[in-house]
Amino acid sequence: MTEVVGADAESCRRAGAALAAGRLVAFPTETVYGLGGDARDDAAVAAIFAAKGRPSFNPLIVHVADLAAAERLGVFSATARALAARFWPGPLTLVVPRRADAGISRLVSAGLPSLAIRVPAHPVARAVLAAAACPVAAPSANPSGRVSPTTARHVRAGLDGRVDLIVDGGRCAVGVESTVLDLTGETPTILRPGGVTPDDVAAVTGGPVGRAATPRAPSAAAPLLSPGMLASHYAPATPVRLEAETAAAGEALLGFGAVAGATLNLSPAGDLAEAAANLFAMLRQLDEGGYRAIAVSPIPDRGIGLAINDRLARAAAPRGD
Ligand code: TXA
Ligand code: MG
Repeated sequence: MTEVVGADAESCRRAGAALAAGRLVAFPTETVYGLGGDARDDAAVAAIFAAKGRPSFNPLIVHVADLAAAERLGVFSATARALAARFWPGPLTLVVPRRADAGISRLVSAGLPSLAIRVPAHPVARAVLAAAACPVAAPSANPSGRVSPTTARHVRAGLDGRVDLIVDGGRCAVGVESTVLDLTGETPTILRPGGVTPDDVAAVTGGPVGRAATPRAPSAAAPLLSPGMLASHYAPATPVRLEAETAAAGEALLGFGAVAGATLNLSPAGDLAEAAANLFAMLRQLDEGGYRAIAVSPIPDRGIGLAINDRLARAAAPRGD
């Protein structure tokens, strides 16, 4: 069984030393828990992919302590620097051209000429990174394709015995993964919506912000063009039904706002930040309830609601397996 330690200074030092020694350590960030390994170490990075059962073509995010450390790994334009200055530390991942001398394992970026980099804000993540004193590759600490963990218990439920140490820093405040912003093209493009919204980005860049197509459930009006466009991800085992006004027999209702008869409510007050923080833990809880399906109330598609709807669309997508 994997050992779980608290988030005191001594435990963070121990976690950092384990990372520097090539081991895998799960630790909290402000978004979700990460499954960390030394990003320079091919064996450690390969072990991350193996522990998650993650396809090797899906690249990882490198976590560093600050912009100076990030600039040793990637090429930062004036726009990239301005975004880092505004949002780091915080839930924004920047995809930038990889420096030739970055010293990062090629496995991290799955052979791409770019690198995804982020500076987390969570004090425990920062303490672990400081103690490790190396760039840390860290995908979300869940088996590939499943719901991301927002507590140490979630990490253990999915990866027990596959990670050397889990640092328990309590619940993650943001609750959905970081915004992934691609800065390698002409227009900054959001590859994954998260805690930093397109409007937040536009306020810094002053220009257009692109948006990679959101996966969506097929409908009569807009049938799915290619099944491959809608890979199932962030998925509980129980089927998920979106835009539900009420629950059908045998279904749980995951509510939002003033909804009657909700089994659980993401935010009775209709607060999107609260809903994001509750999303993954409530999906897990309902997943264990033996329901036929999880019906989810409509969530406004603005602010961090964009990220919530992105994760819900993936959870509701037809299963590939
Ligand atoms: O909030 C987060 O970002 C969490 C915490 C632990 O930091 N991490 C996380 O990692 O969500 P992961 O591996 O589950 O998601 C990484 C995302 C994937 O969608 C991946 O395809 C994308 O970042 N990504 C990584 N490197 C990339 C690159 N070079 N180009 C484009 N996308 C990249
Ligand atoms: Mg993930």
